[in-house]
Amino acid sequence: MYLIKKSIFVLKNYGLKAFIKKAIRFPINRLNLLRQRKAEEKARKYSQKVIKLLKSFSSNRPEEVFDLSWNFYNGLIRPMQIKEEFVELLKIFQELNPKYILEIGTANGGTLFCFCKLAQEDATIISIDLPEGPFGGGYPEWKIPIYQTFAKENQKIYLLRKDSHKEETLEEVKKILNGNPLDFLFIDGDHSYEGVKKDFEMYSPLVGRGGIIAFYDIAKNYFDPKCQVDLLWKDFKLNSNFNLKQIMKHPFEGWAGIGILFLK
Ligand SMILES: C[S@@+](CC[C@H](N)C(=O)[O-])C[C@H]1O[C@@H](n2cnc3c(N)ncnc32)[C@H](O)[C@@H]1O
Repeated sequence: MYLIKKSIFVLKNYGLKAFIKKAIRFPINRLNLLRQRKAEEKARKYSQKVIKLLKSFSSNRPEEVFDLSWNFYNGLIRPMQIKEEFVELLKIFQELNPKYILEIGTANGGTLFCFCKLAQEDATIISIDLPEGPFGGGYPEWKIPIYQTFAKENQKIYLLRKDSHKEETLEEVKKILNGNPLDFLFIDGDHSYEGVKKDFEMYSPLVGRGGIIAFYDIAKNYFDPKCQVDLLWKDFKLNSNFNLKQIMKHPFEGWAGIGILFLK
């Protein structure tokens, strides 16, 4: 059903050429997913080797950092992002030079990896994700030591495997921040309207002046009715005092898109 809906959508909005291109990509994407699963099995067995390899990587160039996260170990930490969009966000992130960072929704770890590599040398980076959550599914316990190596020598990384909507999770984040304001908040967890709104309402007060809040998946999602970040983004566009920026490579792709709020 999903495939039929997607095919009709692509044909209607992009035409036959795009449809054929996507149809050719489909088995390639499936194959990539399979390779990703195999890489996971291997990494689980040889995690020390994976950790060593990851530790040896260093770069402060957004594109290079993204490429590493995408290609590493057949997609073991591949971000669920469109490269052009996320690299643009990473450039803004790097310019901000953040020290206190919170990511809600980590999944494969790719976005967390990129934030660690481009944050201040002594940054504090917090990740929140459910052990087996919806919208991408969290990450298993064996990946924890791998994610911990994302942090540079003097950075601190905290992996909270919790529900972002629980008061106790917010309290734990506050405790870690110890009164310091967040410079950068990335919201990519629960994608329902109520869920993403709740994340915003709970964690945005922790962001300091000059800080940034970024949302993922602000494009209207034509395939998954539970993805409703576009509705909240619309609210911001209509009634907010924030400076906004929208990064959307394919406005009609049916997913992705990054919305950024700049706090004055
Ligand atoms: C789309 S994925 C994140 C992708 C990742 N940022 C990337 O781009 O590679 C969304 C993640 O949010 C997590 N999630 C969903 N609801 C959540 C909640 N209430 N609290 C914490 N994490 C949640 C899911 O477990 C999933 O791993």
